[in-house]
Amino acid sequence: MGISLNDKATMDLSYLLSLYNKYDGELRKLARLLRIQYHKMQRLNYRARLADVEGEVMYMLIREKRPELIFEISPNYGWSTNYILSALTANPKGVVHSFEILPKINGKPTEQIIRQNQHPLWDQERLIVHIGDARDMTPKVEGKIDFLFLDSCHEDWFANWYINSLFPRVEGTILIHDIAQEHVNSSSEARYVLNWLRQHKIAFTSLYLVGVECDSKGKRRGYAERCLMRSWAIGLSLPSTSTYELPAFTESVWSLLQQAETAASRRELETAESLLNEITQMAMNNLSPDYWPTTFKKAGSLFEQLGEKEEASRCFKRALGSSFFMPDLDYKSNLFYLLTALLKHRKWQLVLMTLLLILSRPSFWFRLIMYIYRPTKNRLARLVRRI
Ligand SMILES: C[S@@+](CC[C@H](N)C(=O)[O-])C[C@H]1O[C@@H](n2cnc3c(N)ncnc32)[C@H](O)[C@@H]1O
Repeated sequence: MGISLNDKATMDLSYLLSLYNKYDGELRKLARLLRIQYHKMQRLNYRARLADVEGEVMYMLIREKRPELIFEISPNYGWSTNYILSALTANPKGVVHSFEILPKINGKPTEQIIRQNQHPLWDQERLIVHIGDARDMTPKVEGKIDFLFLDSCHEDWFANWYINSLFPRVEGTILIHDIAQEHVNSSSEARYVLNWLRQHKIAFTSLYLVGVECDSKGKRRGYAERCLMRSWAIGLSLPSTSTYELPAFTESVWSLLQQAETAASRRELETAESLLNEITQMAMNNLSPDYWPTTFKKAGSLFEQLGEKEEASRCFKRALGSSFFMPDLDYKSNLFYLLTALLKHRKWQLVLMTLLLILSRPSFWFRLIMYIYRPTKNRLARLVRRI
């Protein structure tokens, strides 16, 4: 199992679920508007990845708590900013200071990109973009922080910085992206934050659970989809009065895979096998399907290494099946990645199936045609230049 989650935080699970009743109408409208915005960003190759539930919870909390001062660290191309700005526009109250280290994106000033990626209905007067390292820029904005959204550098030293420099300034709500569940060990930020919370007995709520509960209670039914995936964000309130004893964190799938790899290379067969069994169970029960192809591919290769050929084939088939349901972009890279593993392990039947799947994708043919066409285009360009 992943990290145990509690509902004892001030911002607890039932509270967040009740907000879904209150803001259902607004969220439906927001989801529709943001779906249009999402596709616009996709077309322009601007990454927009934040679980729908995470964006919605952020919207509802900003609507509910009506913060004056929001810090967003960091906006990247501005997808998460859309959720914040839409809520501020609806309030209508407060400002968001967004801190981004990238000075330019595709040769254009980052602020321009962030602003052009906002839905036209939002009030951009409420958005202040700061370009530079958040560690240098945040002290320039004074005042207590009512709402803090963190999705930036995923390393422990960065977590150490924001815990010591920003948390003391917060009197309100914090959302931290990509912390709980399988990210426990895969990012040093996650491990650092969770250990800190545990040490200080600060309860938190997992947005992963919010998503699961929404599904089981039929909330969010019929919402326009943007990024359909589970969120690994956590929410908490500071200053905290909680004295909740958080349970010890269990290992993530990624760290178990590493352990299995080490055990397999040392020929500790029993240990490796039992780790792999745990991994496949955890993957099915706890991991978002987004991660199944890579997890099962790796597990398959390790089973193969242990000489468990049938179990290896089962894992590879799961990797193949789950790749099939991935969005186009991930699908392609996953299938090629899987193909190399299958060739290496001489799983000829599965190689054939994977090839057929690759060939059945229109995007594959499109890329092939573009590839063939490109030299002609270059040759033509050279010819024109010579003339
Ligand atoms: C995962 S992205 C943020 C995604 C964004 N929230 C969204 O919804 O699309 C992380 C961003 O943090 C920025 N970043 C990393 N270290 C930073 C720092 N020290 N100060 C400010 N921004 C930083 C990166 O440039 C990157 O754009």
